[in-house]
Amino acid sequence: MKLFLDTAKIAEIREIAEWGILSGVTTNPTLMAQAGRGDYKAVAQEICYLVQGPVSAEAVSLDADGMIAEAKEFATWSPHVVVKIPTIEEGLKAISRIHKLEVDVDRLCQGCLWFGKCDTPIDLAHDLAISWGIRINATLVFSATQALLVAAAGASYVSPFVGRLDDAGNDGMQVIADIVEIFDNYGIETEIITASVRHVMHIVEAAKLGSDIATVPYGVMKKALTHPLTDVGVKSFLADWAKVAPSS
Ligand code: E4P
Repeated sequence: MKLFLDTAKIAEIREIAEWGILSGVTTNPTLMAQAGRGDYKAVAQEICYLVQGPVSAEAVSLDADGMIAEAKEFATWSPHVVVKIPTIEEGLKAISRIHKLEVDVDRLCQGCLWFGKCDTPIDLAHDLAISWGIRINATLVFSATQALLVAAAGASYVSPFVGRLDDAGNDGMQVIADIVEIFDNYGIETEIITASVRHVMHIVEAAKLGSDIATVPYGVMKKALTHPLTDVGVKSFLADWAKVAPSS
């Protein structure tokens, strides 16, 4: 299972990217507000530079034409940008149309502060944008039927929100299980992103069920690496080594 980071905070992304395990990042308007940033294009381009993988940026229009216009614009920021579209009627109409559109490669990566330093040089960026087109992450998914519909419309990713389902007294992981089973039955290639992750067991359960990706908040990612017995073990090994280490 691939691991994404669920944040728009550059310092958090920089730190976790250094672990070498990060495959992508998801953002949304709430996470942008928490990061104290409104310059969505600059933030998205910096995250793409750091991660070199799919970076979800969320459209805020509520009508299909507005979502399509935002998607066309976001897709020029970097070939790594994936456009998040809400799973509503207008969103479904937008997804059906967007995934057939081409990226305006003449405007690709314009204004990017990381131009020339990035691991995706512009020639490769063009090739990727042409090959991938505009990729969609269908967000705010709370049921298997919603996942089936957005996959049928052409979404590359679907994001079921397990934490919010649990909060509302539903079983978030059961929705992941249902979607995995349905997508497996029909060979649906839309990737499942377990989202709204609240704790480490959500990551374990998502991996056991066969979710393609879990998008994990920074604090939960840190906890996923930590175990008190590891810390105790490191401390006792160092203490024992100090008793026998040759003095220099
Ligand atoms: C990710 O794509 C979602 O926007 C995010 O996981 C939502 O998480 P929340 O329910 O904690 O806001």
